[in-house]
Amino acid sequence: MISLSLKKIALITNGTLYGADLLINEIVIDTKKIIPGCLFIALIGRKFDAHIFIHDALKKKCAAFVTQKNIKPHVPYIIVENTSIALGQIAGWVRKKTKAKILAITGSCGKTSVKEMTASILRKNGNTISTIDNLNNNIGVPMTLLQLKQEHKYGVIELGASKPGEIAYTSNISQPDIILINNIHCAHLQGFKSLLGVSKAKSEIFSGLKPNSTVIINLDSHHFSQWKKDIKNSNILFFSIKKKKYSNFFCSNIKIHIHGTSFTMHTPCGKINISLPFLGYQNISNALAASAFSFALKIPLKKIKIGLLDTPIVSKRLESIILEPNKILIDDTYNSNVSSMISAIKVLERMPGYKILVTGDMAELGENSMMYHQMIGNTANSSAINKIFSIGDMSSEITKIFNNGKHFLNKKKLSEYLKNVFLKKKKITILVKGSRSTKMEKVVEDLIKESKKKC
Ligand SMILES: Nc1ncnc2c1ncn2[C@@H]1O[C@H](COP(=O)(O)OP(=O)(O)OP(=O)(O)O)[C@@H](O)[C@H]1O
Ligand SMILES: [Mg+2]
Repeated sequence: MISLSLKKIALITNGTLYGADLLINEIVIDTKKIIPGCLFIALIGRKFDAHIFIHDALKKKCAAFVTQKNIKPHVPYIIVENTSIALGQIAGWVRKKTKAKILAITGSCGKTSVKEMTASILRKNGNTISTIDNLNNNIGVPMTLLQLKQEHKYGVIELGASKPGEIAYTSNISQPDIILINNIHCAHLQGFKSLLGVSKAKSEIFSGLKPNSTVIINLDSHHFSQWKKDIKNSNILFFSIKKKKYSNFFCSNIKIHIHGTSFTMHTPCGKINISLPFLGYQNISNALAASAFSFALKIPLKKIKIGLLDTPIVSKRLESIILEPNKILIDDTYNSNVSSMISAIKVLERMPGYKILVTGDMAELGENSMMYHQMIGNTANSSAINKIFSIGDMSSEITKIFNNGKHFLNKKKLSEYLKNVFLKKKKITILVKGSRSTKMEKVVEDLIKESKKKC
């Protein structure tokens, strides 16, 4: 982080400093991560109040802390009205002080995947920070920005939201130079109500837009006409999987393999052959987005190609695991919504052998949740999938509609049954998916254990 005095922090946060001034090089919000000399900010969340950990933080030698309660310790402290807002104010100040180009990503699906691909490319060209894991909310975004130092050239920041207002807040702190709305799909409908609500919430990202910044638009999934007036002073880059009227980035020669994809990418500065270690069309789309980001920063195509190839596999997102010869497990248990489920079905139907989809519920789909699950059953019926196993109240709607489905009431029974099919079939691909709350990774773990027993 860029060093800051306590006096300056008090000024930035409209707080009052008690005790001596000090220089701070590190800000921590989790007592497990305290390092001597850091500033501890006591946040109040929905489930916790970190003010109770202040004594713990002092024992671990934090040098000072920010509080919204009047606790009188033996180290300097700053009292503010709201510690979460104070965290955002400090991060916003740090962001303004750096020369780093900040890229902000929002959208319904693929934010983390695009973030990893983009950061992998940019790291080939200069010091880069990026969102760690999926820390994309009003706390995660400021914590990411606080990593910025003067030597950083790029910051790739993921902005997530489950209700209106969240992205406006994190975008204003991030002040992005380049913005991407990766796509608009039916996700978090409980908070956004409708697809239009999703589009409006995602477009809040434009409230942090600076004049002459660049906006990247996915022509395969957008609400461009609604956004036009917000981005009229921006440079716009368009991408789509296949060539469309305005596409600046698109693909030809797409080949899907069991371990990834290859294609020719067409860009404003020529075309190049790309190999991606990721499954599915959605990752080709993500790669186009990452390439548009990099192009906007004048990264040469050759570096884009290497960066994409070097992107580490993003765990639990269509992660392909060969359990035995001819027996593939695809772990897509990180999350699920209508769009990523349809994408997963499209991936599975191109895989070899007997094809089984194992699914938990798609959560947070609001009042039409049942209809969306039935829709997946219908989509699966017109696909090449052989069998679906479901678990969870809503997922039973998928197997009720699918021609060859079986519903389970607990994971133990599901894993047992799945194991038997897995052992019996000579050539098989099993894709496991479900929303985060359904913890479908347990099914993946059981199957991996079973296969290791055999070896
Ligand atoms: N462009 C895309 N279109 C549709 N589905 C996608 C796309 N990219 C990734 N996915 C799927 O969406 C799920 C989540 O992927 P990822 O973590 O990259 O998205 P995210 O937007 O960061 O999710 P979250 O909102 O949970 O942070 C995975 O199942 C993945 O396969
Ligand atoms: Mg994410």
